[in-house]
Amino acid sequence: MRILVTGGAGFIGSNVVDGYVAAGHDVSVVDDLSAGAPANVSRRARFHRADVRSGELDAIFAAERPELVSHHAAQVSVRRSVEEPIHDAEINVLGSLNVLEAVRQHNIKSKAAGANMVRSLVIVTSDKCYENREWVWGYRENEPMGGHDPYSTSKGCAELLMSSYNQSFGEPPAASARAGNVIGGGDWAKDRLIPDAVRAFAAGQVLEIRNPHAIRPWQHVLEPLAGYLLLAEQLFDKAAAVAGGVPWGAAGVEVCAGAVCPSNKLPSASRQSAAASASGSSPTKTPRWTSTSPGRR
Ligand SMILES: NC(=O)c1ccc[n+]([C@@H]2O[C@H](COP(=O)([O-])OP(=O)(O)OC[C@H]3O[C@@H](n4cnc5c(N)ncnc54)[C@H](O)[C@@H]3O)[C@@H](O)[C@H]2O)c1
Repeated sequence: MRILVTGGAGFIGSNVVDGYVAAGHDVSVVDDLSAGAPANVSRRARFHRADVRSGELDAIFAAERPELVSHHAAQVSVRRSVEEPIHDAEINVLGSLNVLEAVRQHNIKSKAAGANMVRSLVIVTSDKCYENREWVWGYRENEPMGGHDPYSTSKGCAELLMSSYNQSFGEPPAASARAGNVIGGGDWAKDRLIPDAVRAFAAGQVLEIRNPHAIRPWQHVLEPLAGYLLLAEQLFDKAAAVAGGVPWGAAGVEVCAGAVCPSNKLPSASRQSAAASASGSSPTKTPRWTSTSPGRR
């Protein structure tokens, strides 16, 4: 399959590229290298240095003719989003909208030409996309979008845009994945616990913990990686049943197995009951597969 990954030079995106390359797919990457590094990109993938906000996407889509698009490119720092909220929204909101629209326009042209079209689109957001109620329970995929900081809000906005494209155009089906905190090799981002620790220890400095009383779950990058690949596969094969938003807590693959079942196209009462039956709990209790509280990074 021909697959295009945005943000494929970054921490999670490069792991996703490696996963698809290892599975024998034909992979291309779009990344502006604002945070990622060329060395992260598999030599077996084609690399396009481009901004997801730019019109360059049209030519890249025409050249690569992807059948699956996995969108990971983002401004990922909560602190930077607070310092530069417009910059954050430009990338996470308008950049995501530009990807949605580039896919749609590409498919209109491809259909007219009888060429391969994008058949599914995975949009990676975050468990921070939910309205943060500061409660101890997890969040279900039908909880309202929100966010206490510009990063979280921009991820919620990307979710709403994706949902509006699903409702307005239907094709290609899109699904979002809302991972919690991820650790693993290749992460050198600022303001993240483990990269900060490694940098401090390498420099012989004392590690400063910004939120020493925070308790949060982590998942290894292989967990969401397996989930993203499974979601893409499910979306490709059974689009109508899967399109929508999927939370990805520390339970990883288990989350995926439950969350692909309820469709966001169901009326909310049915969704609650589908969610409850998937988890074996009442809708007012925490389902087994929900993401964890979207606390601050
Ligand atoms: N790391 C986590 O704990 C975590 C948790 C939940 C969700 N996510 C989401 O996963 C995705 C990847 O995050 P990551 O941790 O790998 O971060 P990262 O910074 O390592 O990767 C992001 C990549 O996007 C690229 N990029 C940024 N702006 C761009 C633009 N305008 N055009 C093209 N490329 C651009 C960067 O160069 C970088 O390579 C993001 O959408 C993030 O919100 C991450």
